Amino acid sequence: MKRLLITGAAGGLGTLARRRLTDLAEILRLSDIADLGKAAAHEEILPCELADFAQVKRLVAGCDGIVHFGGISVEDSWDKILPANIQGTYNIYECARLCGVKRIFFASSNHAIGFYERETRIDASDPVRPDSLYGVSKCFGEALARYYYDKYGVETAVVRIGSCFPEPRDHRMMATWLSEDDLIALIGRVFNAPKLGCVTVFAASDNEEQWWDNRSAGFLGWRPKDSSEKFRAMIDAKCDKPASEAPVNRYHGGGFAIARLD
Ligand SMILES: NC(=O)c1ccc[n+]([C@@H]2O[C@H](COP(=O)([O-])OP(=O)(O)OC[C@H]3O[C@@H](n4cnc5c(N)ncnc54)[C@H](O)[C@@H]3O)[C@@H](O)[C@H]2O)c1
Repeated sequence: MKRLLITGAAGGLGTLARRRLTDLAEILRLSDIADLGKAAAHEEILPCELADFAQVKRLVAGCDGIVHFGGISVEDSWDKILPANIQGTYNIYECARLCGVKRIFFASSNHAIGFYERETRIDASDPVRPDSLYGVSKCFGEALARYYYDKYGVETAVVRIGSCFPEPRDHRMMATWLSEDDLIALIGRVFNAPKLGCVTVFAASDNEEQWWDNRSAGFLGWRPKDSSEKFRAMIDAKCDKPASEAPVNRYHGGGFAIARLD
């Protein structure tokens, strides 16, 4: 690609993508409302409020692909979710259509399906069961992705990211952890696939405990290489293990599924 846009480029995953996706495009166009520092030779920095259509149109123009990480990344009030995740993701899709962008990596979340119980292994054909307003906003983004593909041919990988951090942080993340290397490899597969369509991918590493069946995305050839198992002793030592019957242990979404807004 000539130019790949990364939204949310100042965030955790955006910073990682900025550092590691240099092989995917000649120019990385980086955007956020937070400070992005100085642009390197292969970078363009364009601050942008995702809720502002005119700003997003300028941002998207001239790009060949988009990694859409920008937005509220945890549960929050509707006042914050609505502009960033609902309006913002609509703006990204509509501007992609208007500007002829062919392919999007949409950072959805396990919280789009967080109300499934952990005994239930699901695949991409199972209906969404969001566990939070944040999860609802990801379902909206997933629906936009499907609509813009069916009607306008804008291809998307809807990626339900588990927990992508350098290390798992608790026992739940032993199942949901996604290594940084596995995420970067997945983004590469998404943009190098000859045909993508609109595919849903559950993004977790090759962990011992698996809740998600990725067979319908098998054509991408993405095979996660890492496993959370190497952190088990550290997690056992550091974190109290919730009793198996504890509500927080019941659902895929963990604490998101049981937390209530004030
Ligand atoms: N990190 C994970 O494990 C994980 C898991 C599931 C889903 N995701 C999704 O992946 C994406 C990236 O996650 P992250 O952990 O890097 O999140 P993050 O919160 O670190 O980064 C999100 C970035 O979006 C920016 N942003 C927020 N509102 C904006 C707005 N209105 N306009 C422009 N920019 C705005 C923020 O400034 C921030 O830099 C998010 O969409 C998140 O929901 C991440």
